[in-house]
Amino acid sequence: MKKIILTGDRPTGNLHIGHYVGSIQNRLKLQEAGDYEKFYLMIADTQALTDNADNVDKVKNNIIQVAIDYLSAGIDPNKVTIFIQSQVPELAEMTMYFMNLVTLSRLTRNPTVKEETKMRGFTSSIPVGFMCYPISQAADILAFDANIVPVGDDQLPMIEQTREISRAFNSTYKQNVLVLPEAVLPENETCRRLVGTDGSAKMSKSAGNCIYLKDEPDVIKQKIMNAYTDPNHIKVTDPGKVEGNVVFEYLDAFCKDEHFAKYLPEYKNLEELKVHYRRGGLGDVKIKLFLNNIMQELLAPIRERRKELEKNVDEIYKMLFENGKKASAVAAQTLQRMKDAMGINYLKFLKK
Ligand code: TRP
Repeated sequence: MKKIILTGDRPTGNLHIGHYVGSIQNRLKLQEAGDYEKFYLMIADTQALTDNADNVDKVKNNIIQVAIDYLSAGIDPNKVTIFIQSQVPELAEMTMYFMNLVTLSRLTRNPTVKEETKMRGFTSSIPVGFMCYPISQAADILAFDANIVPVGDDQLPMIEQTREISRAFNSTYKQNVLVLPEAVLPENETCRRLVGTDGSAKMSKSAGNCIYLKDEPDVIKQKIMNAYTDPNHIKVTDPGKVEGNVVFEYLDAFCKDEHFAKYLPEYKNLEELKVHYRRGGLGDVKIKLFLNNIMQELLAPIRERRKELEKNVDEIYKMLFENGKKASAVAAQTLQRMKDAMGINYLKFLKK
């Protein structure tokens, strides 16, 4: 099977370490494996606008920020086609046709949309566009015949809904026009949904609990030193809890045995460190400084590349625009196939 990969992010803020372990790491792995036909990475500005209609500047300014985050994290523009969603108007047209295949009650059952609706305080004032973004996300994926979608946990309901839409389209119009995509999740469960530094369920900009890829060393350290651990672990000698402890969650996600040899040679691996913490006698400062060393090592080269890339913003925009044209041409072909299957290709009525 030829592999076509597509994934993306909303440009509502800079990318953080939750994005890194949740999706960027898998993207880098796929990029390096190289056994794909096409790899698209979409900056989903149209989707970001579904709950930012009055905040266009935020979305606009974050497009380049996210592009720089991608490139500085190691996404190679020669291997991956990075583009801006709104430059592919075919996606909006597809969304219209897909809307007819989805019920309102199905939309309201999407758990991620439910959670986001709650977080944003939308009660009876949910914008229709926001409610429908899973349908537009299905278009993002299906337009490119993408069968592999590397994402974090929270995107699973979107992929599920995309599969339903694809099946509904193929069965309604009795042709096998659209693919059935599969989500690719990180193997490590902690990485699928990284907790915030405050210990809340998800790292998110609005909760102010993120460590960003672009953060300066002192900011990273300060966020780690203030991270939530175990509130009952008061004296060093107290036994500590590892579950729900942000520092251990992050160590689960980021630390490798080599880090112990380099920064904390008294322990062989994370298991040993956990045993000691649980038993008592291991202080929070020590584990936080260890985590800080690991994060600094990961983020320093990303930050340095970012500083270089920031000098060439025009070139990045140019690359995005060129890719947008290519992506639009690909989506146009899929749209044509859809219209043929639906029988709404009226031009065919013209006698030559
Ligand atoms: N919903 C994703 C997010 O919130 C962004 C996104 C838009 C996406 N279209 C996509 C992800 C298609 C994967 C595939 O970050």
